[in-house]
Parts: sequence; C-alpha cells; structure tokens
Amino acid sequence: VQTGIIGGTGAEGRGLAARLAAAGVSVLVGSREMARAQEAVRLLRESNSALPLEPATNADVIAGSEVIFLAVPFSGAGEILEAHGPGFRPGTLVVDVTVPLTFRGGAPAAIDVAEGSAAEFVRARLPDTVRVAASLKTIPASILGAPATPLDCDEFVCGDSAEARAAAIELLERIPTLRLVDAGGLDAARTIERMTALAIAINRRYKVRASRFRVVGL
Ligand SMILES: NC(=O)c1ccc[n+]([C@@H]2O[C@H](COP(=O)([O-])OP(=O)(O)OC[C@H]3O[C@@H](n4cnc5c(N)ncnc54)[C@H](OP(=O)(O)O)[C@@H]3O)[C@@H](O)[C@H]2O)c1
Repeated sequence: VQTGIIGGTGAEGRGLAARLAAAGVSVLVGSREMARAQEAVRLLRESNSALPLEPATNADVIAGSEVIFLAVPFSGAGEILEAHGPGFRPGTLVVDVTVPLTFRGGAPAAIDVAEGSAAEFVRARLPDTVRVAASLKTIPASILGAPATPLDCDEFVCGDSAEARAAAIELLERIPTLRLVDAGGLDAARTIERMTALAIAINRRYKVRASRFRVVGL
C-alpha cells in the first residue's frame, strides 16, 4: 500500500515515516516545500539508505497515496484541506493525526473545535467519497522518531466506518510493538484528543517525555 504524510517533515510525521518505512511500507514524505521534504528524507535515510521513502509536495501525497496521514498543526489543517479538498481521490483513506492543542508557557491548552474534535473537523472538510480515520494522536513524536526503541503501548483508532478503522489498523499493525485498539466512531476522538493533553501534563509533572497508554482487560 502506498502511503503519504502531509506534514511529513515535522516531528510526528518524520517519526511515523521512519516506523512505516522500517516495516517495509512505502511512504511519500510530504511538505509544502519540496526542498524541506528532500531534507527530511535525507535525514531519515542516514541510518538506512534503502528505506522506501520518497520526498513529495503535499499535492503529490494527495494525488499519489492510498492512505494519507494528516500530520500538520491543527491550526493549519483547515487551510490545507480547503486548498486540496477536491484533489483527494475517491476511496482514499485519510488518517487524522492532529490534536487541537496550543501551548501556553509549555502547558497544553485545548483549542475548542465546533465539530467536537479535530477528526470530525477533518471529516467535515473532505468529500464523502474519502474515508476518514484517526490514530497516533497519543503517540509522542519523541518515541515514534526513535525506531530502535519499542513503542510498547496501545494506540486508539477511530473512524467513520468499521471498514475505515479496519484498513487503518491493518496498516498500522505492521509497526512492531504497537497494539491498535478499535475505539469506534470518529466522535471517540473527542476523548482521545483530551487524553493526549493528559499525557503531556503527566510528562511535565513526572519530567518524562513519552508517557502513553495501555488498555488492560482486552
Ligand atoms: N509532536 C507530537 O508528539 C505529537 C503527538 C501526537 C500527535 N501530534 C500531532 O501531529 C501533528 C504534527 O505535530 P508535529 O509536532 O510534527 O508538528 P510540527 O512539527 O509543528 O508540524 C508538522 C509539519 O506541518 C507543516 N506545517 C506547519 N505549519 C503548517 C501550516 N500552517 N499549514 C500546513 N502545514 C504546516 C510543516 O511542514 P512543511 O513546512 O514542510 O510543510 C511541519 O514540518 C499536530 O497536529 C500534533 O498535534 C503530535
């Protein structure tokens, strides 16, 4: 499956690119500027030049990927979707990674989203023919971007259909040491996005960088 990351040059996008490519998944690393995508791919390939990564513009990612991760700051998501909305091909799966948070003095504060969550905001701005799921929202970039370190955690997947969730899970479970948990409809993102804020607050309190979640009893 050909994947691509809008905002693939960022901390979270690069980490995801590293994990997917290490699992043998082809990734287009997207940027608003081709030169930044090329630099990100150069850095990612330093450890292994054979990783299946290619630099791309965000427009190339949208035109050329079957699964597209949206990994830009939430504040930029609306503009990207407005600019490229009609370019998303029918049947594409968009996986929203954005978290509507802003930082005040390093502390996270939730951004109010009229749709209820970033995932629902994204759903509302894409054609009906595009499937939407959300995941990776509680996986910190600091550990995602260290592919030799086991993730050893669970991550939630929610989506606008069981089929969208299954497709996202099938792809993401290729990343070793990560267990995916089906959290149901996109409205579950309202809770999941708050859990990210909780994890960041825990990081600050305990002076750690990568607290994350594990569901027991499953
Ligand atoms: N960092 C984490 O630990 C973490 C964990 C879970 C989820 N997330 C979520 O993942 C997303 C990305 O996080 P990040 O830390 O990687 O963010 P980031 O580094 O600030 O941004 C990611 C990339 O988005 C692009 N970008 C920046 N502003 C933009 C705008 N206004 N419009 C379009 N593109 C823009 C940039 O790429 P170009 O300049 O190359 O286009 C940038 O490299 C966020 O929504 C965040 O909430 C982050």
